[in-house]
Amino acid sequence: MSPIKKLLSLVLAVFALSVVVSGCSKEEAADEPQAETSPVAEAHAESEAMDDTMSPQDERHELMESVKDGAQVVGPMLQGKKDYDAAAAMQALETWREVGTKFGALFPDGSEGGEAAPAIWEDRDGFNAALTEWRDATNAAIAVNPQTLDDAKASIGPVFNTCKNCHDTYRIEEEE
Ligand code: HEC
Repeated sequence: MSPIKKLLSLVLAVFALSVVVSGCSKEEAADEPQAETSPVAEAHAESEAMDDTMSPQDERHELMESVKDGAQVVGPMLQGKKDYDAAAAMQALETWREVGTKFGALFPDGSEGGEAAPAIWEDRDGFNAALTEWRDATNAAIAVNPQTLDDAKASIGPVFNTCKNCHDTYRIEEEE
């Protein structure tokens, strides 16, 4: 990639992540005082406690909540608002990887609604492609195992683009 293109894609990635992260932080601040444990670890425990009695709507909501918790850890680090913590970043990536393996199965016919856009059922191939992009980007970042902020920007930045890309078409934002 030329230096200009590289810079441009980085700027876009940082923009995308601020959209993704800020889009939901208000909500979090309002009704969920943060516990002292790492939000990612907590979300992880939560997702493992899930069982078959949950509706697909509840389950996908829970999973995206854990994805959000990870984004709220990693986002501020990439934006330079928090010190970079490689272990925390890898933990968030692992959560995303795990959610990525489960998420696609949680949109059966008849489960329309919530923040899931009708486009998911109208264009399942497109939705699956957006999911695959996210999974690929996440796995690629895990393979990098970024130890420095620069490496994290280059490898995790693109993951945020894939979040935004899917949301643009397949998620209805309930508040902005
Ligand atoms: C393949 C599509 C797709 C990808 C990729 C994706 N999301 Fe989502 N996201 C959704 C959908 C669909 C919903 C709505 C789910 C629902 O409520 O039924 C959602 C909901 C959310 C929400 C609202 C949580 C809630 O309360 O339901 C947040 C926050 C969120 N996503 C963050 C992220 C972040 C951060 C990433 C990337 C690290 C990401 N998403 C990747 C599709 C995606």
